[in-house]
Amino acid sequence: MSDSTKTWQRALTKDGSRTLLDPEGLACHSWEGAWQQAVERYAGGVEFSERGDAVVRLLDVGVGLGLNMAAALAAVEGGERCLEVTGLELHLEPLQLAIAEPEPMAGPWHQAVGEALAAALDLARQDPERADQEGVPLGQRSRLWLRLGDARKTIRALAPERRFDAVFMDPFAPADQSDLWQGDFLQAIAERMDPGSRLVTYCAASAMRADLLRAGLLVGRLGRVGRKAEGTVAAPHPADLPPLPPRALRRLRQRAAESVSEGTPDDSQ
Ligand SMILES: C[S@@+](CC[C@H](N)C(=O)[O-])C[C@H]1O[C@@H](n2cnc3c(N)ncnc32)[C@H](O)[C@@H]1O
Repeated sequence: MSDSTKTWQRALTKDGSRTLLDPEGLACHSWEGAWQQAVERYAGGVEFSERGDAVVRLLDVGVGLGLNMAAALAAVEGGERCLEVTGLELHLEPLQLAIAEPEPMAGPWHQAVGEALAAALDLARQDPERADQEGVPLGQRSRLWLRLGDARKTIRALAPERRFDAVFMDPFAPADQSDLWQGDFLQAIAERMDPGSRLVTYCAASAMRADLLRAGLLVGRLGRVGRKAEGTVAAPHPADLPPLPPRALRRLRQRAAESVSEGTPDDSQ
């Protein structure tokens, strides 16, 4: 039976920024640095300067505290372009904590994310149809469409023409939460990725990488961030992805030819 007295809690990480622990104690970010992970793994990993054109369309899976979104906003608006974020989140509590207290290390970018999340929740309460269609302003010239609910369902409810230049894949680790790492959800994401797009995740599990291959994406390896030796980048078209070692790629292709997904010990943040 779950303990209804448990709540989401803030916790300090080593770079001085704060993460959240869910009611079961799962951390939303690396203990080495929540903001470091958002900036280096996520915003850095998709290389925003190479994505989209005047507008960059981002799918943010597991909005949580919104640090990844803030890092994306810094990268895109800092370069004088606009970001259009579709954010998928199951729980209200991490959003409310982001709204209540912006992360100082993330500066005005996280403040802007908090304001947009508050506006999106208000609009969804008052006029859900308008919230779906128009979204809300984010930062100086960007927009946010927030979809509350299970991402496996909310992604299917997006308008068919909604496609993405970048995807942040940031649910809890497969060992703790296998549902969002399953092949059919990854397939639903892959179907919405434009030719020049990139998906980035902290996860380096071979089962997940094999599922990305099965979904028709090419898979590459991102280098160390903090204590996490590698992350994963994926793209729909041949691109200069940082390559996996040839032996690892051969094994992955073999695995992709099999059907069952399971986690590996290297799934944590
Ligand atoms: C690792 S945290 C995300 C941290 C966040 N990206 C950030 O930058 O602060 C994982 C998030 O996934 C959310 N989540 C868990 N299950 C989900 C589901 N089925 N659909 C959508 N979001 C989910 C959790 O509530 C949590 O906020």
